[in-house]
Amino acid sequence: MELRAEGIGHRYGALDVLDGIDLSVREGEILAVIGPSGCGKSTLLGILGGLIRPTAGRAAIVGDAPQGCLNALTYVFQDFALLPWRSVAGNVGLALEHHPLSRGERHRRIADALALTGLADFADAYPKQLSGGMRQRVGIARAIVVRPAVLLMDEPLSALDAQTRELLQEELLAIWARERTTTVYVTHNLMEALRLADRIAVLSRRPGRLKDLIEVPVPREMRGEPGHAAALTALHDRLWQSIRPEAAAADREIVDAA
Ligand SMILES: Nc1ncnc2c1ncn2[C@@H]1O[C@H](COP(=O)(O)OP(=O)(O)O)[C@@H](O)[C@H]1O
Ligand SMILES: [Mg+2]
Repeated sequence: MELRAEGIGHRYGALDVLDGIDLSVREGEILAVIGPSGCGKSTLLGILGGLIRPTAGRAAIVGDAPQGCLNALTYVFQDFALLPWRSVAGNVGLALEHHPLSRGERHRRIADALALTGLADFADAYPKQLSGGMRQRVGIARAIVVRPAVLLMDEPLSALDAQTRELLQEELLAIWARERTTTVYVTHNLMEALRLADRIAVLSRRPGRLKDLIEVPVPREMRGEPGHAAALTALHDRLWQSIRPEAAAADREIVDAA
């Protein structure tokens, strides 16, 4: 399925966050959304997912849901949001609770999601027993157990240490390669965007406008090869030059704590 945003604008009271965003997320792609802190990335994702009603424009989902899809859109957030009193399998199964499934189907789906995320041996563990990386694997398993048409990820790896992040990037790509689920991936990490995405949308700040929409010029499976390093470094530098002044402004902003 595809996501289409037309003329999206959003204000929180007097704060003009997003303005005039036209964007299509193509079937089966990973679209990364990058931009400085506070530019409205999470707001845009919330609008695309129907959690936030935009003050202008509209977002729509277009096309047929894939087979076995129970929820068209699912989220993975930075802060896991797991229920501490439920086991890993219980947290993953939560997403299935309002769907009329046989016990067998429920069990199969949970087992499949746990296997895909490397959690098969952790089904009975509780969140507090797990590392941050394992908790986020649970967050990912819970999102994919419904076989969503579109996966919306809001800085899913940003709370993790660098090595765990590296491992989860590899695993996310392996999971994505199986289902090719249309994915919107919000990150402030340019390297992450360059590794995962087919295209990168760059947002400006105050208000957030679509400043650039860039196709990553190297096929995903070849991005680790030395022959392509120069092209990716050049794109990284271009993206950083584009974001840097606003990132610096965001960093130096005095927050009104009233
Ligand atoms: N519910 C809200 N009410 C008021 N202001 C908000 C709300 N959510 C976010 N904001 C503000 O809107 C701007 C964009 O926020 P957000 O979408 O979270 O940006 P990002 O995810 O790019 O950091 C920020 O200045 C933030 O403080
Ligand atoms: Mg955010």
